[in-house]
Amino acid sequence: MPSTVKGVIARTKGAPVEIVDIIVPDPGPGEAVVKIEACGVCHTDVHYREGGINDEFPFLLGHEAAGVVEAVGEGVTNVAPGDFVILNWRAVCGQCRACAKGKPQYCFNTHNAKQKMTLTDGTELSPALGIGAFIEKSLVAAGQCTKVDPQADATTVGLLGCGVMAGFGAAVNTGGVSRGDSVAVIGCGGVGSAAIAGAAVAGATTIIAVDVDDRKLEWAKKLGATHTVNSRNTDAVEGIRRHTGGYGADVVIEAVGRPETYEQAFYARDLAGTVVLVGVPTPDLQVTLPMIEIFGRGGALKSSWYGDCLPSRDFPMLVDLYLQGRFDLGAFVSETIGLGDIESAFGKMRTGEVLRSVVVL
Ligand SMILES: NC(=O)c1ccc[n+]([C@@H]2O[C@H](COP(=O)([O-])OP(=O)(O)OC[C@H]3O[C@@H](n4cnc5c(N)ncnc54)[C@H](O)[C@@H]3O)[C@@H](O)[C@H]2O)c1
Ligand SMILES: [Zn+2]
Ligand SMILES: [Zn+2]
Repeated sequence: MPSTVKGVIARTKGAPVEIVDIIVPDPGPGEAVVKIEACGVCHTDVHYREGGINDEFPFLLGHEAAGVVEAVGEGVTNVAPGDFVILNWRAVCGQCRACAKGKPQYCFNTHNAKQKMTLTDGTELSPALGIGAFIEKSLVAAGQCTKVDPQADATTVGLLGCGVMAGFGAAVNTGGVSRGDSVAVIGCGGVGSAAIAGAAVAGATTIIAVDVDDRKLEWAKKLGATHTVNSRNTDAVEGIRRHTGGYGADVVIEAVGRPETYEQAFYARDLAGTVVLVGVPTPDLQVTLPMIEIFGRGGALKSSWYGDCLPSRDFPMLVDLYLQGRFDLGAFVSETIGLGDIESAFGKMRTGEVLRSVVVL
């Protein structure tokens, strides 16, 4: 029997989010219904609501979540009812050209549920990042469920489902940060702070946090930043160079998604260094860079989709590091809220009061 449950949608561009009744079908072949226990509020949810991703309104928001599998459809073998899972938006297909080349972390044809969750009038919803988790239970592709140690708490480890994984992976997977590297992270929200934590776990010895908000810089220090630069008062590039012997950092991670911060990242890396763009720009934004500088600085300009993660490899490993006390995932949870508080959580994200607000269901 399909269930009718409460969930949070963005009905039209820019309008405040609403709690509505949503019909969740029973899982079909290859699908699972997951009882959501907790879901973090990510900046990408705001991008969806503002029409910055696409125009396929109404969106069912929420996408960094953990919960318990309630039911599975035909042919599902990777999870079973009762399993504790983190939802991912990279259910690798195993068949596309990336998968065929042995690079499933770039899979170009990731799986989502085939059936649609709908409003009670039958209007189909577009789930954010193919998940949709500001809802009591959600229908996903079974491959979007990654089983992890059930000793972990959903409020904290759900954050691995998007922002924290994206940031951690931007440093460790995309940027290839390793022992002794210097790393700068521009934008220290949930994603950037996770890049800082990732750089620390990987053994970087100089980790420079750059933000326009002193509160974010304080939190960044707790997660492993060795130096901070408030780029509202200090030039970001000069600040990063000052802490790296005048040269710039080996890896600079942009976690804002703006042209001005991308340019800072470009100029703040050392020769042969790497820039990683993990912030998501809106389609209107442009950068202009002198080609001679692109050539003359060498190195690599990379983008990081979801931290180039492989959920089946990375989620259990990060949960283990968290449970062993080697990765302070709890530091990302600034507050727990209810389904009715998402609009105010967006406001707190804008004013910088939180690293992550987490909806607990
Ligand atoms: N690539 C991916 O797979 C992926 C996944 C999740 C999120 N994201 C993107 O990452 C970005 C960050 O997400 P978040 O959830 O951390 O957002 P957030 O709002 O929590 O953090 C953004 C941070 O950037 C800072 N900032 C803003 N303007 C700045 C400037 N000019 N210079 C320095 N710092 C500045 C803010 O003070 C804030 O701390 C967003 O664009 C989001 O869409 C990307
Ligand atoms: Zn694939
Ligand atoms: Zn996200």
